[in-house]
Amino acid sequence: MPSPLRGLVVAVLTTLALASAPPAGALTQAPGRSSGPAAAGPVVIGHRGASGYRPEHTLAAYELAARMGADFIEPDLVTTSDGVLVARHEPEIGGTTDVAARPEFAERRTTKTIDGVAYEGWFAEDFTLAELRTLRATERIPEIRQENTLYDSRYRVPTFDEVLALRERLSHELGREIGVYPETKNPSYFASIGHPLEPALVEEIERAGLNRPDAPVFVQSFETQNLRALRGQLQVGLIQLLDATGAPADLAVAGDPRRYADLVTPQGLADIATYADGIGPDKDLVIGRNASGVLGEPTALVTDAHAVGLLVHPYTFRNENRFLPAQFRSRGGEAEYGDAFAEYEAFLRAGVDGVFTDNPDTAVAARAALLEPVG
Ligand code: G3P
Ligand code: CA
Repeated sequence: MPSPLRGLVVAVLTTLALASAPPAGALTQAPGRSSGPAAAGPVVIGHRGASGYRPEHTLAAYELAARMGADFIEPDLVTTSDGVLVARHEPEIGGTTDVAARPEFAERRTTKTIDGVAYEGWFAEDFTLAELRTLRATERIPEIRQENTLYDSRYRVPTFDEVLALRERLSHELGREIGVYPETKNPSYFASIGHPLEPALVEEIERAGLNRPDAPVFVQSFETQNLRALRGQLQVGLIQLLDATGAPADLAVAGDPRRYADLVTPQGLADIATYADGIGPDKDLVIGRNASGVLGEPTALVTDAHAVGLLVHPYTFRNENRFLPAQFRSRGGEAEYGDAFAEYEAFLRAGVDGVFTDNPDTAVAARAALLEPVG
């Protein structure tokens, strides 16, 4: 296995066993890695940090995720005009910073087509790092996460370098390895405008001393070709992200007819296993919902992925009603918390090897509840 994941094979085998016949008390504690995050059982990945509690992709969000018990922190990566990797979910930065309120950048507002979709706003690649650092992060979904707006304009947009430094500092302080789980965002788009993400990504992982098989690192992408290329440059784990609909942008550009639905077949998964160590599927691919939003029974995806040695880390788990399966929503509005524990339980019992979550503390508690049931 060309990755840091030999230790996690044990966890995979454990979760395979859980997937076959897992009554609550039967969940056993996986040994975790021989190195890297000493996670007990499936790993908890702080999605954009602890973004349920702080504006996403800020050092404060990442730090809180680690302190809440997350095994990994997840920066999505885009680039500045001077080639510095920074943590944002998409090239357009108007939805998560105060750039719209900065008159000095008003003329940078523009429209760009990315992966076939037109976006209007301000774009990271049109700002130098020095310019971007004058901006402040803001909450993406204030209508759902009003409490997070308390922290609007308190934090800068972090560089990937800063995230790696935070990871190292917190690993020492907390006495356990905090992993980092970077995602290359829109890699074909960035390559097409002369700003490929991969050279800087590889360089920074190398410089941090993390380009080794036992490093607590996974690199993820919704595209396929950049992961195949990175396989030759990185010894860390690689994760093929899988959307519930559509097709990888690189395949579409190349005229390859394959869609994500083709990648999740046993044949598609066997192909992914030639270059990646796991998949990061939309959680609906693991357990689907009906037209009313009610969670059904697990699909064959976990079993099929495990059969070819792939880890399964679905996204994204969140506490609020808006995001929960219908049967787990509370009576309040979309921003109210529902029974997130019930959703985690369904997926952990389905045998997943980790979860991307906006609420790492809830995921850690849900995992503990199954691994170490009270009484
Ligand atoms: O990377 C896993 C998950 O984060 C993918 O979704 O859109 O939040 O990056 P997104
Ligand atoms: Ca992501």
